[in-house]
Amino acid sequence: MQKEFFIRTADEHDFVRMIDIAHLAWPEFAERNSIYHLFTKHFKDTCFVAEIENVIIGFILGFFSQVSMSEAYIHLVCVDPKYQRRNVATNLYNSFLEKAQKAGKTKVSLIINPDNATSIAFHIKMGFKANLYGQTKNIEGVEAVKDYNGEGIHMIPFYMEI
Ligand SMILES: CC(C)(COP(=O)(O)OP(=O)(O)OC[C@H]1O[C@@H](n2cnc3c(N)ncnc32)[C@H](O)[C@@H]1OP(=O)(O)O)[C@@H](O)C(=O)NCCC(=O)NCCS
Repeated sequence: MQKEFFIRTADEHDFVRMIDIAHLAWPEFAERNSIYHLFTKHFKDTCFVAEIENVIIGFILGFFSQVSMSEAYIHLVCVDPKYQRRNVATNLYNSFLEKAQKAGKTKVSLIINPDNATSIAFHIKMGFKANLYGQTKNIEGVEAVKDYNGEGIHMIPFYMEI
């Protein structure tokens, strides 16, 4: 029988385990350790972890925009590969979306790397839509905003009304 997981808001010290999970889930993704730490320290109420028997198996890092008061933003979600396709990310998202709705937010946004087919599939399943604008570039059949994050770093902005 599969063990049940629980979702809770993040604590500061959770960032250490988050780094391990990100390495397992997405080895080619290079994020500075300090980013995980600042999210769990300064944005902890909009970051969540999924746990089984007190062991973190997935997390979401998000925050509420300071310039667009109706908007929430998701920076990163990762689930330990051993526990993927068990709705862990879906439940992490639902916790974040519920908190955003309660805070009066009406839009959630994020960006996805065009070569991350898994993430694109997950977000479309969750109800997110691509928000392409300006100059776009086709990356192996996937349209992205050209140079979104600087020269040669093309990204797909996604959003969902909540
Ligand atoms: C993306 C990720 C967080 C999804 O986590 P997860 O817990 O496995 O997702 P869920 O089980 O909640 O999936 C929900 C739905 O998303 C879609 N989905 C998830 N993973 C998928 C995959 N590998 N291929 C196709 N569709 C997928 C499916 O529709 C799935 O529903 P189903 O299992 O009933 O078919 C996980 O694959 C991951 O950690 N990837 C590496 C990190 C990453 O790329 N993060 C996103 C950066 S923007």
